[in-house]
Amino acid sequence: MNARALPSRVPMKQSTFLPDRRALLAGLAAGALAGPAAAQAPRRMRYGAAAMKENFLDDPLYRDALVKHCDVIVPMNDLKWEALRPTRGQFAFEDADRLLSFAKSNGKAVRGHTLCWYGGMPAWTKGISTRAEAERELTTHIERVAGNYAGRIPSWDVVNEAIAHDPEKQGVWRDTIWSRLLGPEHIDIAFRTAAAADPKAELVYNDYDLETNEPREERRRTEVLNLVRRLQDKKIPIHAIGFQAHLYAEKTIDADGVARFVTALKALGLRILVTELDVIDWRLPASTAERDRLAARHVESFLSALTASGPVDTLITWGITDKYSWIHETFKRKDPAISRPLPLDAEYRAKPMMDVIQRFRRQA
Ligand code: XIL
Repeated sequence: MNARALPSRVPMKQSTFLPDRRALLAGLAAGALAGPAAAQAPRRMRYGAAAMKENFLDDPLYRDALVKHCDVIVPMNDLKWEALRPTRGQFAFEDADRLLSFAKSNGKAVRGHTLCWYGGMPAWTKGISTRAEAERELTTHIERVAGNYAGRIPSWDVVNEAIAHDPEKQGVWRDTIWSRLLGPEHIDIAFRTAAAADPKAELVYNDYDLETNEPREERRRTEVLNLVRRLQDKKIPIHAIGFQAHLYAEKTIDADGVARFVTALKALGLRILVTELDVIDWRLPASTAERDRLAARHVESFLSALTASGPVDTLITWGITDKYSWIHETFKRKDPAISRPLPLDAEYRAKPMMDVIQRFRRQA
């Protein structure tokens, strides 16, 4: 994102992660679910949050909020290369495992973020300098990580942010360690390796700025579709697209563009997830009540556009409380007011944004 320093289609196998609507209806018709209540229960959208290890360890209210509000928990940083691979030879799973076992013991589902990204890389990876070495490291990483968590992490952001910020000006692919050394084939390698390491996992391509009417974002949507077709033409599995949805409150959601994009993705057999929702409120007025109202309304516009052709399975916010968010630093306000990007305020009270999420959560 701008303000960051980071800066003939084959029918796809349905992952076992979530039953699709057809499978669910077939199950219902066959009386597969117990009892009349279960048979009538619509499948609700799952809500979840990304959790930071530091807050999780230090703040009991944070843990309580995750337990109270979430169906899904995502380690925000602990599955990134820099957390898992302090040195080339090491795989350090302990921090991620702590969050995952907290999720499990509280009956929460989990997702994995992320197997192939240019950000969150340990310093030693700067030494990767040849095509063969890049392929070896990427493959080894995904085999070890997705293999280690097979059966425990049912959904992965396999590749994150491979498309350029502005493909109109910069060319399609983001200039990263992976694209420089391997070209767009790094995406093929990542998805193919993840599918082999965990054949049951839901494999997701995840990216940002896919929701406004800026030509740059329209082009990014086109390039996501091209990426999906490219993988499908090569018979490489991909099951879903993750909208990061770091939403700029001052921009306009392209309702038609988003709805068309979702329809096109579904026609290719893909599911849709919201993986990192928060609202960038740096250009909104300082008034807390006004800001919360506008942020909630913005989330509502986005979710309405996204679900125009049917509900999404999963919505994750990037954090849960305004007390802790990357937005505070990355999209700093010019006034002394503190950003309010998330569904709970800094005192863990539900904001209007949470009401909107709950409304979509109840939709079948
Ligand atoms: C961010 C985390 O929130 C920060 O704690 C960390 O310092 C940097 O990364 N897109 C992504 C996420 O896919 O991994 C990023 O998370 C936010 C933007």
